[in-house]
Amino acid sequence: MSRLKLAVMASPAAGIHERMSHLAHQLGLPLVADQPMKMLDTVDAVLYESEAGLGLQLTGKGAPGPVRVDFVGGSAAHRRRFGGGKGQDIAKAVGLADAGKRQLHVLDATAGLGRDAFVLASLGCRMTLIERSDVVQALLIDGLRRAADDIEVSAIVQNMTLAPGDALSVMAAMADKETADRPDVVYLDPMFPHRRKAAAVKKEMRLFQDLVGEDVDADGLLAQALALARFRVVVKRPRQAPDLGGKMPNYRLEGKSGRFDVYTLASIRQAEPA
Ligand SMILES: C[S@@+](CC[C@H](N)C(=O)[O-])C[C@H]1O[C@@H](n2cnc3c(N)ncnc32)[C@H](O)[C@@H]1O
Repeated sequence: MSRLKLAVMASPAAGIHERMSHLAHQLGLPLVADQPMKMLDTVDAVLYESEAGLGLQLTGKGAPGPVRVDFVGGSAAHRRRFGGGKGQDIAKAVGLADAGKRQLHVLDATAGLGRDAFVLASLGCRMTLIERSDVVQALLIDGLRRAADDIEVSAIVQNMTLAPGDALSVMAAMADKETADRPDVVYLDPMFPHRRKAAAVKKEMRLFQDLVGEDVDADGLLAQALALARFRVVVKRPRQAPDLGGKMPNYRLEGKSGRFDVYTLASIRQAEPA
C-alpha cells in the first residue's frame, strides 16, 4: 500500500495536458495546476511529463530527482553495453547458458521499473512483466513507448509485454489455461524492507519504496510460481534476507549486494526444443 498522497500535474502544452488529465482520470488522482515543485505542499509527490518522459517526483524543497523508466539512456544503456552479457549472475540464474538456441520465456512477476526485465530481454529472453501498482504500470508503459521509438533498443522492448494486475491472480489464470505459453522461468524480486537510513538506498529509491509499500504478501508468490514455471523459479534477495516463504532454494548465486536463489524444477538443457 502506498504511503504517499499523489496527484498528476497539468501542463501548459496542449498535447501533454490532454494526456495528463486522461492519466489523472484513469488513476483516480487529482489534477493539480502546473507550478514549481517547491510550491506544491498539498501532496507528497506528482506524476508529470517532461521531454524526458513521465516521472514521479517528490514535492517540496530539496526533493531528489524524479523516478522514471528509462530503457534508452542512463544505467540501462551502460549495463547493456558493459554489463557482462550472459556472464552476469542474473543470466546464469535464469539458465541462459543452458538454453542454447531456445528463447526462454521469463515471467517477471514483480516487474517494478522493469530494470531486471530489460536486462534479460536484452540478452534474448521473451519477457512478460506483471506489475500491480497502477502508478508503476503508467511509468512502465511510458518507458516502453519511448524505447520503442529508439533505433537501438526498439527490438529489445518488442520482447517485453506488460501484464497489469496482481501476480497471484495473473499466475493462477495462466496456470488454468492450456500449457502452450507457460513461462519457462518465473522471476521474483519483491520489495524487501530496507533500513531507511542505509546509504545504499538512494533517495529516489526511497520514493519508490514509499509508493509501492513493502510487499508483505510476497511469501505467497513462491508456491504459485513453482506451480507455473516449466524449468525454474528465481528469487532475487538482499544478501542477508531470509529465504522467500521460508523455503530453501536448490542453490544460490551470491553477489556483493544481493543474491539469486534458484529453485529448479526440470533441466533446461535436456528439454525438447521449443
Ligand atoms: C523491488 S520491485 C522490483 C524491481 C524490479 N526487479 C526492477 O528491476 O526494476 C518490486 C515490484 O513488485 C511489485 N509487486 C510486488 N508484489 C506483487 C504482486 N503480488 N503482483 C504484482 N506486482 C507485485 C511491486 O509493486 C513493485 O513494483
